[in-house]
Amino acid sequence: MSAVHEATVLAGAPLAQEIREGVRRRIDALRARNVTPGLAVVTVGEPPSGNPYVRAKCRAAESLGARATVTRLPATIDEAGLREALHALGRDPATHGVILQLPLPAPLREERHLEDIPAEKDVDGVHPLNVGRWVNGLPAHRPATPLGVVALLRRHAGDLSGKRVVIVGRSRIVGRPLSVFLSERKEGLNATVTLCHSGTRDLASHTREADILVVAMGKRAAITADHVRPGAIVVDVGIHVVENPQPGGRKYEGDVDFESVRRVASAVTPVPGGVGPLTVAMLLSNLADAAERAAGAGPAA
Ligand SMILES: NC(=O)c1ccc[n+]([C@@H]2O[C@H](COP(=O)([O-])OP(=O)(O)OC[C@H]3O[C@@H](n4cnc5c(N)ncnc54)[C@H](OP(=O)(O)O)[C@@H]3O)[C@@H](O)[C@H]2O)c1
Repeated sequence: MSAVHEATVLAGAPLAQEIREGVRRRIDALRARNVTPGLAVVTVGEPPSGNPYVRAKCRAAESLGARATVTRLPATIDEAGLREALHALGRDPATHGVILQLPLPAPLREERHLEDIPAEKDVDGVHPLNVGRWVNGLPAHRPATPLGVVALLRRHAGDLSGKRVVIVGRSRIVGRPLSVFLSERKEGLNATVTLCHSGTRDLASHTREADILVVAMGKRAAITADHVRPGAIVVDVGIHVVENPQPGGRKYEGDVDFESVRRVASAVTPVPGGVGPLTVAMLLSNLADAAERAAGAGPAA
């Protein structure tokens, strides 16, 4: 009887910890010069219980010696009010990085606010100046989640040159920037990328071609073993909160049906504990970049 194949579980936490240790050293050096990196998160219409992702970002920033504040705006705020709140943080010298937590409640539209955070404080890497720079391979703040996915793939799969990567989802903060980063003509990258979305016909015919499949579609357990080529590496970006039948329990699931996919793939990221910790680590790295630049000590912009 042959043993049932099970994929390697690609945990993000050990690599995230390494990245955070590097960021901690940079923040220590800044604080020695009396500069405390400041992260400001703006939420609109947050539930009274708060937002667990915002809490995680702030806790992580504080654990490394940065300052983190949350500006909670009501769901009723209008475009001008949100713009003014973002401009105020843009002017604040103690704030080095600003995040506008998405999605925004209707009728606010995120694309109307992309330029309300100054490019140098846009640690999510979505300001058109930053996007224009990273598309052209220039130094810029880059979105944290795709940076985390690239770091994980480089660590696990080594050289990605010529690998067939299929990404499901073309969002501003995950799928689209990831497609740009992985296809950069750079040592270790240089992959062949297919970007799928809701207009893609016969999704599985594309995903089954992938050496590396990255899923960021926001649909719980939508990718099953039938979508995966045997031996592929599968990265699950999705996060869904699932009410657990156990009393008081809550659990998280991804866009990938982990139990079926692990029997086909060579490696698969778990949810939680896969991409999430890397996103937070990369965000803190962006914050350190911003604070170093503001202090005149940083990497070239
Ligand atoms: N782990 C982390 O750190 C992290 C960070 C960010 C986001 N997330 C999670 O990742 C997931 C995706 O978030 P996001 O912000 O990138 O995406 P999003 O803005 O929710 O967009 C989803 C993307 O998936 C595509 N899509 C939806 N259904 C599809 C289908 N049936 N077939 C093919 N494509 C389909 C959409 O296509 P269209 O463009 O055509 O609509 C869109 O491009 C969410 O669960 C989110 O919570 C996790």
